[in-house]
Formats: sequence, structure tokens, C-alpha cells
Amino acid sequence: MIRAVVLISGRGSNLAALLEAALPVEFAAVISNRPQAAGLAYARGRSIPTIALDHRDHVERSAFDAELMRHIDAYQPDVVVLAGYMRILTEAFVARYAGRLVNIHPSLLPSFPGLDTHRRALAEGVKIHGCTVHFVTNQVDHGPIIAQAAVPVLPDDTETTLALRVLVQEHRLYPMALRWLAEGRITVTNGVARVSGQASQALLAPIPGDHADLSA
Ligand code: GRF
Repeated sequence: MIRAVVLISGRGSNLAALLEAALPVEFAAVISNRPQAAGLAYARGRSIPTIALDHRDHVERSAFDAELMRHIDAYQPDVVVLAGYMRILTEAFVARYAGRLVNIHPSLLPSFPGLDTHRRALAEGVKIHGCTVHFVTNQVDHGPIIAQAAVPVLPDDTETTLALRVLVQEHRLYPMALRWLAEGRITVTNGVARVSGQASQALLAPIPGDHADLSA
């Protein structure tokens, strides 16, 4: 069993997917920089300690992160899990949790780091999109890739339909990746993450409505 602290900012659907997955992980606390985050209420409902730390109470980003680190360290986590945590992290924060800080990003990195990934993917006309779980480094949405899930982009997709298709995969991918971490199966060499005993670190979503014709 490893101990995890989860950081969120909002809805918390990835948090819920992690909590529902029966992982060998003790979720010690959920911390949000937005007091109204729906994910906090969800965690409370699961009797997990929650902390709301409003980032607007701190003028300096470094002061906020220092306070955040104090709270995280009180739980002595093996891993810090970013699940829709929408803050840029300071170098001090990343350094403190290096190698045990993971994030999920709604694109196939290194494509589309940053915000509005689904809108940008549609604007570029990419045919395959997806999500990535990775270790966090000082470069935003960059770092050793633990696992990815790919979804097709369909001709009539909107930002909403595409986001939903990716989100379904996020909810499969993050529990899978955290399980590997908990099992101690991930190593990073020269910036590349590998999972022992795992032929593929990718999930593929089927193309909706595209069924093989088995009748012939
Ligand atoms: C997800 O799409 C995640 O990949 C991104 O922010 C969103 C958070 O959604 N980083 P939720 O709060 O987990 O529902």
C-alpha cells in the first residue's frame, strides 16, 4: 500500500475514478485550491480528509506553494497525484516531490500542452487525440510519460463530444497508471518511463459505430 495525497481544483471526476478503482493506495487527503471544488464534497462523502486552501489568500505563488507543501508533508505521501489541479507549480514544489509527482493531461503529449486542448486539437484537424499520465517536471505538461490513451477524432465532433470521449479514457488510464506506481513497477531512465512486465503502456478506444463485419 502506498500513501497518496490528491490535488484537485474542480469537478473531481478523475479523483472519483481513482477512489472507485480499489487500488492498493491509501488516499490520505484531498486538497483543493478552490474551496467550492465539487471533488472535495465527493472525498468527504468517502470519509477522506479534505483541505481547502484558497490560492487567492496568497499574493505570492511561492507562499501558496509553501503552505501547500506544509499540508501535503503532514501526510508523508509516497505519491502526490494531480487530478485536474489547475495551478502552475513552483520549482521548489516540483523539486520536493520529484519522481513521485504525477499528472493527467487531456492530450497526447507532447502535443497540446496547456489549456483548451480539445478545441486546439479540433482546430488542427488531428485524427487521433487522447490523454497522458506523466511524471511532473518544471516544464508545464511535460515529463516522463507513464501511459497514454488514444481516441479517434470524428468528423462531426464538437469540443464537448471530444472532451467526453477523452474523459472516459482518462478514467481508465489514471487508475491503471497509479496501480503500476503502487506496485513499484515504473522506472525512469534518461527521461523515459517504462513499466515492468507490460508490453504496452497505451489504451486504445474503439471507433464508435465501427464494427467489424463478422457475417461474411
Ligand atoms: C481533466 O480533463 C484532466 O485531464 C485535466 O483537467 C480535467 C479535470 O477533470 N487536467 P476532473 O476534475 O477530474 O473531472
